[in-house]
Amino acid sequence: MPPDRSTLFPAAPARPSRRVCLGAGLAAAATLVAPGVLSQPAPVLLRLSHVVAPDTPKGQMAQHFQALVHERASGRIRVSVYPDSSLWGDDDEMEALRLGAVEMLAPSLSKFGMAGVPEFEVFDLPYLFTDLAQVRRVTQGAVGRELLQRLGRQQMLGLGYLDNGFKQMSAHRPLRQPSDLEGLRMRVQAPGVLEAQMQAWGAQPIVLPFAETQRALSSGLVEGTENPLSNFLTQGLATWQPHVSLTRHGYLGYAVVANPRFWNSVPRADRAVLTTALAEALAHGNRLSAELDRQALHQLRQTPGVQVHDLSDAERAALRQAAQPVHAGLRQRLGAGLVDAVHRALAAG
Ligand code: SIN
Repeated sequence: MPPDRSTLFPAAPARPSRRVCLGAGLAAAATLVAPGVLSQPAPVLLRLSHVVAPDTPKGQMAQHFQALVHERASGRIRVSVYPDSSLWGDDDEMEALRLGAVEMLAPSLSKFGMAGVPEFEVFDLPYLFTDLAQVRRVTQGAVGRELLQRLGRQQMLGLGYLDNGFKQMSAHRPLRQPSDLEGLRMRVQAPGVLEAQMQAWGAQPIVLPFAETQRALSSGLVEGTENPLSNFLTQGLATWQPHVSLTRHGYLGYAVVANPRFWNSVPRADRAVLTTALAEALAHGNRLSAELDRQALHQLRQTPGVQVHDLSDAERAALRQAAQPVHAGLRQRLGAGLVDAVHRALAAG
């Protein structure tokens, strides 16, 4: 189905001609006599737009959600999934959600800062988490719940979290230590912590929408990237980036958000179907994320022309050490409360 962007910028309604009025009258009459039509309300349409490929944790979560809803609310709710920025991209998806031109999104946590909820930048702090179990302690606890609630300030209903995984870096040379990043133009997905992190390593961060990364690499606008491997692989970035360094320097995850007016307009029983299906789809995506990461690593190691570099603990420690000012910077910008609450959640595990 072609994307319908017209709802954001509706054209002024033209004065209907007599012919149109007549046609509409006949159509209405036909509707009146069609058997069974009046008793069946039109299905609720839920458009779920995202920016990555179907074969990623987010893409798989979205497809699973669609399948579950269609199985359980067949004929009452229709879910249309738009992957690969085919409906909305990073630049406009949150505005589209607020305006009702899409019903559901799953932006990366890093991007909520640009939408006025900078607290989510805490997830971007380099080397904050060592594994996904640690991430869960934050997302599934009081901090995670409070952050989802804060999305309400920006007319978004936060419904749950999804992992992609840990980010690695790519370039035309191995990136093992801060000096390897010196002067490199590195694409990042959002300003704030991610920019500060690249600056701490001597690189020059360039904020770009995900969909523009490949073109920016091919034109030389950017010289390096950071992302979990499933994103790197499915965007075909290996064509431009022969060196992948397993820096594991940060976490990338998502929050699923809905337009609250849409959500509240869904009949209660169907809203329950959506809620349960989404919880199951998120669990499905979270189960898959580590496996898709392993598969992508395996595939990249087999890709001719691509070299994958494992880093030693000492090399990771040097990157981590150089990025410490970024932690202090966020604490100063957002106040110590949030960062301390995250550290308490991590320590409690
Ligand atoms: C995503 O995984 O949704 C995109 C991440 C990025 O923009 O780098």
